[in-house]
Amino acid sequence: MEGVTVVDHPLVQHKLTLIRDKKRSTKSFRELLNEIGTLLCYEVTRDLPLTDVQIETPVAPMTGKEIAGKKLVFAPILRAGLSFVEGMIALVPSARIAHIGLYRDPVTFVAVEYFFKAPVNLDDRLVIVIDPMLATANTAVAAIDRIKERGAKEIRFVCLLAAPEGIERLRGHHPDVPIWTAAIDERLDEHAYIVPGLGDAGDRAYGTK
Ligand code: URA
Repeated sequence: MEGVTVVDHPLVQHKLTLIRDKKRSTKSFRELLNEIGTLLCYEVTRDLPLTDVQIETPVAPMTGKEIAGKKLVFAPILRAGLSFVEGMIALVPSARIAHIGLYRDPVTFVAVEYFFKAPVNLDDRLVIVIDPMLATANTAVAAIDRIKERGAKEIRFVCLLAAPEGIERLRGHHPDVPIWTAAIDERLDEHAYIVPGLGDAGDRAYGTK
């Protein structure tokens, strides 16, 4: 599928099976979301440009490499994006964070914004939008609309699970935004939940059901 990378690393696939299990505790669900976040962060940053930097080891001067350009921005969609982003921050501790509060109306599935706080200028930063579940893509499309309003030009989207319907809609609205996911599931059900999926990621991560 064009513009979509399925991260089929064995560790990701193993942890994905664990996190899907309905018997998993809230604590373990959150830990796994965090761990998979770290592994997906490794993949989504794989091609970041590097620049030369002069350093001195205890033995000799040398030319090393460091990531070029301004600090990355992680943009988790609340709530479930929060546990997911923690694992990414573990790998990129200096990243800036844009919090995007969006929920989907349970009847219409339309995205409703209740919070948005992002670094002022995003036009020369890579912004990685993060939501574990790409279902209808209503919240993902709305989040990326807002990030683009702030000037972002280079955006990537990372999720744990995607429905084919969500991928189609997100790629249709934002064809310039590539997607990384651990799996593409079968479909959405009548409540817009991913099948087989893992249920409500926010409720499972925070024990609210
Ligand atoms: N959001 C979730 O948390 N789970 C789904 O299956 C779909 C949207």
